[in-house]
Amino acid sequence: MTESSSDEVPTSPNNASEAKKPKVSVVPPCPNSVSTALVILRAAISGVTGASCANQNVSLLQATYIKEGKSTGKFSVNLGKKLGSCELDLPEDPEKAQLLLQAIEDAANRIIAENHVVECFECSKDDVINWVGNSGNGVLDGSHGPKVAGDTPLILAYLNMPDHAAAVTVPSATLVRTGCLSKIIVDQDGGVMSSSIVAGKKARKAEITIKFEAIERTDSETAAIQSKQPILDLEKLQSAAIRFPEGRLFRERQSDALLEGSSEKTDAEVAVQDDDEMVVNAWEVKGKIDYDKLVKEFGSTLISGELLQEISDQTVGTGRVPFLHRFLRRGLFFSHRDLDQFLKLVKSGVPMFLYTGRGPSSESMHLGHLIPFLFTKWLQEAFDAPLVIQMTDDEKFLFKGVYDESTGDNLDYYASLTLENARDILACGFDYTKTFIFSDLDYIGSMYPNVVRIWKANTTNKVSNIFGFDGSSNIGKIAFPAIQAAPSFASSFPTVLKADRKSNRVCLIPCAIDQDPYFRMTRDIAHKLVDKNHGLSGKPALIHSKFFPPLQGATGKMSSSDENSAIFLTDTAQDIERKIKENAFSGGQDTMKKQKELGANLDVDVAYQWLRFFLEDDDELEQIGIDYKSGSGKYWSTALVKQRLIVILQELVAEHQKRRANITDEEVRKWMTERCIV
Ligand code: TRP
Repeated sequence: MTESSSDEVPTSPNNASEAKKPKVSVVPPCPNSVSTALVILRAAISGVTGASCANQNVSLLQATYIKEGKSTGKFSVNLGKKLGSCELDLPEDPEKAQLLLQAIEDAANRIIAENHVVECFECSKDDVINWVGNSGNGVLDGSHGPKVAGDTPLILAYLNMPDHAAAVTVPSATLVRTGCLSKIIVDQDGGVMSSSIVAGKKARKAEITIKFEAIERTDSETAAIQSKQPILDLEKLQSAAIRFPEGRLFRERQSDALLEGSSEKTDAEVAVQDDDEMVVNAWEVKGKIDYDKLVKEFGSTLISGELLQEISDQTVGTGRVPFLHRFLRRGLFFSHRDLDQFLKLVKSGVPMFLYTGRGPSSESMHLGHLIPFLFTKWLQEAFDAPLVIQMTDDEKFLFKGVYDESTGDNLDYYASLTLENARDILACGFDYTKTFIFSDLDYIGSMYPNVVRIWKANTTNKVSNIFGFDGSSNIGKIAFPAIQAAPSFASSFPTVLKADRKSNRVCLIPCAIDQDPYFRMTRDIAHKLVDKNHGLSGKPALIHSKFFPPLQGATGKMSSSDENSAIFLTDTAQDIERKIKENAFSGGQDTMKKQKELGANLDVDVAYQWLRFFLEDDDELEQIGIDYKSGSGKYWSTALVKQRLIVILQELVAEHQKRRANITDEEVRKWMTERCIV
């Protein structure tokens, strides 16, 4: 790679007339965001392609920094002759090259969302060579090559993650955490990629050139440069395996002969093209970007004002519910598939049902788990609808279960969690005469004919591509998606919904957006399971929610494995108060003076975001927003906003616990008994 980077840098106005003069480097100081993006992208490239981060065949070229007011950079990673240091065959085909760049971008943005610490160390070129061995090529930036003196002072950025690490010398200190960036956009311009990814038998060298833009959060912080010696995890740095799911997925897509012409490819192409469009919008509404991107990538549709009105007409309009659920009013359920068609059919008298579910993964559910069920309860009331709730104990065992030589496997444990979780779900207050809740392990028989049909209609390749399985996945994992798909068809409930294959009963699935891949797969083959009279050709309609943000900050979703990131339905009033006071990420200022002057950033403030989910009164929410954002009025400070949230959640959780305590095992069994609910 010999391309000069100076074409990316703004040059003086009379540059054109001086074209013959040697170009003077006018590289501006490197923004910290670009250095951060550099180390993240190094990690992403090696994790996706399998190229080692500390291999002598890997070299970097200098990044370029500021262009049109954006923090951009460009560098190449040389994967060496004959792809010696890379497990992956780089694609020659520009379309597949785009998919590779997309995988790298996805991996980089996942690293951002995971918010890892980035450390910076003072060092010299000789230090780097000492620390990482070889000639330090994989870690030294390309501009620190042989001509640079051994004692040249450098900064080493180090990103150490649980499954991977990257180290690289950077032109400026990085930001303290990967999450200080809001995103990295990899330039996917077709021309650049096809000429910059060279591979195949004749290729002398294989390299990937990445042009990127780094978008920094307003509340980011620059890392201090440490003078001590870093403790580098060389094993992780030197690993030459494809470690990232994005890379495995890409490799499978690449080797999938069926890719050509299948609907998968069309999806992927659409996602890539749409992504370009999104870059343009990216500057406008920061917080919304990722959900927009998700909607575009998945190919679902945002819920429009018109559609909301239609929902309101058919629910509030019937008098069964007093108003639209706050999750709809506030765009927390925000995306859909075929909801408009579904409403039309229901309006014309076609029978319908609701389907949702839960994978029982721990004894205590947290607030985030409650969101889809609270909303489903409202839908049941609003449409006077029959509802089936699937408990995927089989799924959790296949994905998380263990086998122990002395005690055997723990399938029974997951089956018992179904009962525990069902109590929490039932405490949301569903209508017994219209609700059937079932464990897969128990109910599979009635669904089995449809499961078999769905198996027959899907290939291993297709399912593996969607879910990232490979040859080492247990066969139950590959079989499972059909089991989550089956309840989308009324005929899976011959007794419960009195339905056979001729049924025209349409299905609506409320779920968090991460469940969408299951139902994309379902919708693709749905026509094969129903009669021609089905208004949606068998396809279930979907309504998707956003994620409920964890206490520590608004990226990612809440996890039951991190005790402090969530409020559990078993927490006491004191637990709730302590967790919110201590752990809820604040968008407010550090001092009273600054808060009164500048106000809070509501988008990142967890207490405020949680109030959007749980405070019913729109006027009060608006007033809290106005006060807190401006640092004046009744709710001017973080402490006051948190206090309001604490009271609401203490009430909500206490009431939940009371209702739950009244649900006996016998009661749960009644709800889980196969019986007619229509
Ligand atoms: N897979 C889901 C989970 O892990 C459970 C589930 C099964 C589900 N069927 C569903 C969720 C339908 C939403 C809608 O929690």
